[in-house]
Amino acid sequence: MITSKKLRESWLNFYKEKGHLDIGAVSLIGDGTTGVMFNVAGMQPLMPYLLGAPHPSGKTRLCNVQGCVRTVDIDEVGDVSHFTFFEMMGNWSLGDYFKKEKTAWSFEFLTKVLGFDGNKICSTVFAGNENAPRDEEAVKCLVNAGVKKENIYYLEDNWWDLPGTVNTPCGPDNEWFYPRWDTPCSDHCDVTCECGRWVEIGNDVYMQYKKLDGGKYDTLKNKNVDTGFGFERLLMYVNGLTDGYKTDLFTGVISLMEKELGVKYNEDEQTTRSMRIIADHIRTSLMLIGDENGILPSNVGAGYILRRLLRRAIRHAKKINLNTDKLLDVAKIFIEEVYNTAYPILVKKEDYIISSIKQEIDKFNKTLELGNKEFEKVVSGIVRKNQFMAGKPGFSEEKTINGKSAFRLYDTFGFPIELTIEMASERGFDVDKAGFDEAFRQHQELARTTSAGAFKGGLADDGVQTTRLHTACHLLLAGLRRMFGTGIEQKGSNITSERLRFDFNFDRKLTDEEVSTLENFVNDAIKKAIKVERCEMPFGEAKKAGAYGVHKATEDEIVSIYKIGDVDFQICGGPHANNTSELKNFKIAKQEAVSAGVRRIKATINN
Ligand code: ALA
Repeated sequence: MITSKKLRESWLNFYKEKGHLDIGAVSLIGDGTTGVMFNVAGMQPLMPYLLGAPHPSGKTRLCNVQGCVRTVDIDEVGDVSHFTFFEMMGNWSLGDYFKKEKTAWSFEFLTKVLGFDGNKICSTVFAGNENAPRDEEAVKCLVNAGVKKENIYYLEDNWWDLPGTVNTPCGPDNEWFYPRWDTPCSDHCDVTCECGRWVEIGNDVYMQYKKLDGGKYDTLKNKNVDTGFGFERLLMYVNGLTDGYKTDLFTGVISLMEKELGVKYNEDEQTTRSMRIIADHIRTSLMLIGDENGILPSNVGAGYILRRLLRRAIRHAKKINLNTDKLLDVAKIFIEEVYNTAYPILVKKEDYIISSIKQEIDKFNKTLELGNKEFEKVVSGIVRKNQFMAGKPGFSEEKTINGKSAFRLYDTFGFPIELTIEMASERGFDVDKAGFDEAFRQHQELARTTSAGAFKGGLADDGVQTTRLHTACHLLLAGLRRMFGTGIEQKGSNITSERLRFDFNFDRKLTDEEVSTLENFVNDAIKKAIKVERCEMPFGEAKKAGAYGVHKATEDEIVSIYKIGDVDFQICGGPHANNTSELKNFKIAKQEAVSAGVRRIKATINN
């Protein structure tokens, strides 16, 4: 058995011996520059260097094992091979080596380090199209490396780029395959067969092009290599497994659930599916909360995805009668036993991660039972109507939960719409998503009208001092987010001409040291005399550019953004000071709890 720790080490050592620098992993949360919410590929943080900028280390050979979060397949999670968090073992040549070395090393790693039979290894290469030629060179290199000629296939879609982006590097790729078992399903059982015998285990991308707007390509200055081998998948393969949840990454949490439930993994199909969903979703959630730019559950953006993951895990725990507090033990096993050495930050932030998950569990548990009852009421209402109307002329059976009911489940009971859709489909129903969206939109409009009034009330008068205190609120929130992650949000504020009062989601008192760090952060920004600038743009664009705020709007609604240098970038109606220097000196006067998970700070500025 090759353990996950051993595989991680083998990869890094192999490439370090070949002159690569281990650059370590970076945050899972996208920095907003590519418009992608999470880090979805190992190459994503390296984009500028693949496009030609020199790497800060001065090196041209890099490697790491990078966590990635992909939620496009979230509904597939529950089978043996889908994960929302996974790691990618990567290595890169920034205009250094190219196809000859790369093919040889990938083959050597698979055969010499992992012990795969070289005669069975298959490879696919780019078949060519109007943008780029057929990759004969890769084939030559692969044969030299040891791959059998008859095991190489030309495919048209062997081309890799970061989906949904432009002005990003891309190129033909060379994918690696190994049969999961020997007996073919038919005479046509080659790498393109979908019988399950063939799964891609790794990808070498020869990044020589830049994808432009409108489907055109430019040639890059450098010929780069971008390699990604799926960590979970390889771990499963090298241990002869056909279920990704049977690797040592998951054995601890699965056996905990088996023990709690008295049901063996794979004993019952539905329970097994729920166990996998819980394991996957809790793992991704703790990675997102414990990340260096950690987030917390919320109703927008990345925070909403996190909420969805946690609430889905909670519901599946309920479904199989697993006490929801056991989800915390699941998280602890991942943190303490699985990722403790590769992600020491998780151990450091363990209490924070666990209490954040606990808060979401408690919050959702409060409404889950009632929400389930409401859901049942909606379903049985439809069933009753169908029975009542059966056989009436022109009547066809109804199988749709209307948008208003779905919105009520969301708004009153905290059911993410995707959860309602999943629950509905388990009962053979669907949901009127367009109707839900419409109910959502109407609700937002109403909320905005009332909160516009409330905001005016929040600023007691328009005097110069309150305006400055409002700017101080922005600096304060920016400081909190720097210290505790971008999951921190404003939960309310009230400003008089004497002081600001600011509420935010946090579950404990700040220590004296944290209070002074926070004060220093704000005072530093004041000392730097930063200009406070305002501009207007569509909400969608603002979000893409990294603006945050509690304000909700439709994608193309014009909103106002305040920028304070590189300290803060917030959607806000204003008004604000013109320059941070007007604030002179910031001091926290008091902190207190408002409600579970919400803290309040009162602070002053003096000038
Ligand atoms: N960037 C390539 C991938 O994600 C290696 O498959």
